[in-house]
Amino acid sequence: MVEIVISNDYWEMSKKVAEIIANQIINKPDSVIGFATGSTPIGMYNELVKMFKCGLIDFSEVITFNLDEYWPMSKSSPYSYHFYMKYHLFNHVNIKEENIHIPNGEIELSEINKYCEWYENKIKAHGGIDIQILGIGGGYYDENRRYIGGHIGFNEPGSPFNSRTRLVKLSEQTRSDNSKFFLRIEDVPYYAITMGIATIMEAKKIILLASGEHKANSVKEALEGEITSLVPASILQKHVNTIFMLDKGASSKLKRVIMPWLYINIDWRLEWEKALKNEENLLEKALILTAIERKKKIIELNIDDLKHINIDKITVDNIEKLRRKIINMLELKVMEYHKLPMGKRILVFSPHPDDDVICIGATIKMLNDKGNDIRIAYMVSGNIAVRDSDVIDNINDIIENKEYLDKIVNDIKSGSIEVNELLNLKAKIREIEAYKATGVLGVEKSKLYFLRLPFYETGVIIKKPITNIDIEIVMKVLDEVKPEIIIMPGEIDDPHGTHGKCIETINEALKRMNIEDELQVWLYKGGWEEYMIYEVDMIIPFNKELMNKKIEAIKMHKSQLTPLFQGLDPRPFWKRALDRNQINGKLLNIIGLTDKEYAELIKFRKFEKDNI
Ligand code: F6R
Repeated sequence: MVEIVISNDYWEMSKKVAEIIANQIINKPDSVIGFATGSTPIGMYNELVKMFKCGLIDFSEVITFNLDEYWPMSKSSPYSYHFYMKYHLFNHVNIKEENIHIPNGEIELSEINKYCEWYENKIKAHGGIDIQILGIGGGYYDENRRYIGGHIGFNEPGSPFNSRTRLVKLSEQTRSDNSKFFLRIEDVPYYAITMGIATIMEAKKIILLASGEHKANSVKEALEGEITSLVPASILQKHVNTIFMLDKGASSKLKRVIMPWLYINIDWRLEWEKALKNEENLLEKALILTAIERKKKIIELNIDDLKHINIDKITVDNIEKLRRKIINMLELKVMEYHKLPMGKRILVFSPHPDDDVICIGATIKMLNDKGNDIRIAYMVSGNIAVRDSDVIDNINDIIENKEYLDKIVNDIKSGSIEVNELLNLKAKIREIEAYKATGVLGVEKSKLYFLRLPFYETGVIIKKPITNIDIEIVMKVLDEVKPEIIIMPGEIDDPHGTHGKCIETINEALKRMNIEDELQVWLYKGGWEEYMIYEVDMIIPFNKELMNKKIEAIKMHKSQLTPLFQGLDPRPFWKRALDRNQINGKLLNIIGLTDKEYAELIKFRKFEKDNI
């Protein structure tokens, strides 16, 4: 039996899990707890440490078994899970050293099988695991729309359900996901020792934690997809006592969230009243989803099509009125060129130098063509995603002085170049690419701002916390541009990623300047995800000619044509943008909203003061 608990945010989720563990330890002081690493459980460990410090829990008899460890990996390495566990939990509580078990990444290859058997036996000797904490790996849909991802422990897609503790090879998706903890992606180990799926399934209780929209597909497939080894977490559907602890982002693709009418009774009369008042309502969503599912225009939906949502409460007489009303509401959202604003000061925030063109390149071009004063602020330099060889290949564009140029090329080749100098050159490459890309869309160079927020400038994947300096830089650009419209990324629950940090910085800057009331804020989804058409406020359709322009602009980001941080999705960014805009277009064509082939989607930010 799987229970699903959806929290409002990451912190609330972390607290709930910590409370379950605390109760377990209070009820059974010598509980056996299975711990996980990664970014997701960090909040939970913080809560456990707080509880310990307040005297609420005692770890003196607790036994722990960790899921996994990289191999080969020295226990003292800051990348090791031994280090991680000490850093986040064990150093701060009264657990006994001899009660801690973490797979040993120092073990010789020839000894691994024996060692893994020992680990399994040790778990059994302690009476099995009372609560096993799990995270879940990311994933992607392959060309056949099959989902591949959702690892648990380091049991990658394809791992047999009867697997036990063993040495495994990490997938490129996992290496790329976990590179955020390492200096460079090349440093991420290729192997790990992990508890097997059968080992995990023997735990008496399992709590899987997932936070953020980038986990939403894995969560959806694990809970609602078929049980398949391509999604290892899907086996949890068969476990007798599992809880999926999710925040809003991670739960956002679940059927029960998207189509609540399939799970709970909806008061459709109330929803109808909301629709009549042009308020947000479930009927609009229900009609869009039904039309997509039936491959019918909304105007053609009949009472039979709507039976599954129990719409009979709204009588047959109303069906015509209902369809009309919903179509009217939707049509208001469709912003053809002639309906877009003109003569406005618009500030686009692009976290990396290519998010703007990838996500809303067509909208930028149209707004610019309509005589709006479009400014674009690139928040971070994106320099860690540039290869050394790109610097050499583009050296003529970034350095004029021949002597200096030769010296730099030699220094890069010999590896003696000073790190900051190299990072500056890489940032320069991305700036030039951004000029070229926005140039294709018609935006002048003088309208671009390169903020190079310091939180990003570590030269490595791990970022610094946001400080006042980051916030003040954003405030300065807001003050200079004095925008009437802001266009910014709209990911939710991304406390660890660059986009999440950029959003937090903008939010804090807006809050300090107290200008929310004068602003319209438009949100777009970042490079990996897209909104669904039922959740947006503006649908911006466009034709093939503009799609081609947008692709041309994206391709100006030459250093990103074969991205360093690609994950498993083999498509280049221009192709992802094309697919995403085309899917939007197709869905809109099906439901009868536009006949254009492509569309970009924008959601309005509703300012609830305590929300930012
Ligand atoms: C951790 C582990 C992994 C992570 C998963 C999610 O011990 O084995 O399965 O739980 O990769 O990682 P984060 O939380 O970093 O997204």
